[in-house]
Amino acid sequence: MSLKKKGLVLSLAVASSILLATGCSSSATSGGASGSNDAKLPAVGGTIYKFDDNFMSYVRRSMEDSAKGKVNLMLNDSQNDQAKQIEQVDTLIAKGAKSLAINLVDPKAAQTIVDKAKAKDIPVIFFNKEPDEAVLKGYDKAYYVGTTSSESGVLQGELIAKAWESNKDKWDKNHDGKIQYVLLKGEPGHPDAEARTKYVIDTLKSKGIQVEQLAMDTAMWDATKATEKMDAWVSKYNDKIEFVIANNDGMALGAIASLEKAGYFTGDKFVPVVGVDAIPEALEMIEKGKMVGTVLNDAKNQGKATVDLAANAANGKDVLAGTDWKLDDKKAVRVPYIEITKDNIQVGKDAYK
Ligand code: GAL
Ligand code: CA
Repeated sequence: MSLKKKGLVLSLAVASSILLATGCSSSATSGGASGSNDAKLPAVGGTIYKFDDNFMSYVRRSMEDSAKGKVNLMLNDSQNDQAKQIEQVDTLIAKGAKSLAINLVDPKAAQTIVDKAKAKDIPVIFFNKEPDEAVLKGYDKAYYVGTTSSESGVLQGELIAKAWESNKDKWDKNHDGKIQYVLLKGEPGHPDAEARTKYVIDTLKSKGIQVEQLAMDTAMWDATKATEKMDAWVSKYNDKIEFVIANNDGMALGAIASLEKAGYFTGDKFVPVVGVDAIPEALEMIEKGKMVGTVLNDAKNQGKATVDLAANAANGKDVLAGTDWKLDDKKAVRVPYIEITKDNIQVGKDAYK
């Protein structure tokens, strides 16, 4: 090889390593990447649908803690953009990820990601947003870590029923025996949002409690959007609202902010609010009497199970090796939900320590 050619090869090598490096930093700035950065450990490629999601920030923390000293977790912020997430998956595979841990942006994109992973024989652990059963069935190295979505709706319904039964003298403001409610829904099409919305109401009805929906709309799991919705509903219905049901705590907190502006939670002005997740900010509201209760969505164990399975997969082991997790017939690890009120608030606190 001539000297000139050698120089060209070298500069190409330098250029491509610069390209790779900028590829990393561009995902760190525009996509936001973080990880344990221990290059000697097996690499696990991860995505979170958006870092700026209250509950997912706790799942992320648990994943990062669980990864320490075990795997090199390369975690990307998909910024709620499915196209961006697909690119991130391509990059993670190119960087040598031995397994993938994917929190989908759009549950419908699961097949696209499985196709990419399958082509390289890389196992995929989906978490938090459950893909269709057929997608998991179609690839023997695809798994899910999450919950049984309907359970959170059932528990929230039971919690509302108990609270209503013991407070209806005060809470049934128009004395018609029915709960006039507004419902803040999570992202439409998200299995958790759909199931919570259905099962909370089905559960109330099955307990013989009559309900009347005043309003329902999505606030996309988001506190700020929930405040805006609630502002509009408070000005339209005001005291007619007898219950605020939120698919998650983020939106419950957003609703409380709106209600506070309207003078609620001072003197006798009160409306019961419930959520799901049991994030620390919601537990604080329960202690202050501004929230009736929530349902623990166990971020710590979901994050840990995701990394446990992904680490085993990256090491070519059975995904459950050395763990206590169990797979159901859909190849899913399902972490249970727990009803949380003032009476057992410590359970929620311990889960988010
Ligand atoms: C749900 C959680 C929501 C939101 C969503 C994101 O399980 O309750 O707060 O984080 O996941 O997919
Ligand atoms: Ca009523």
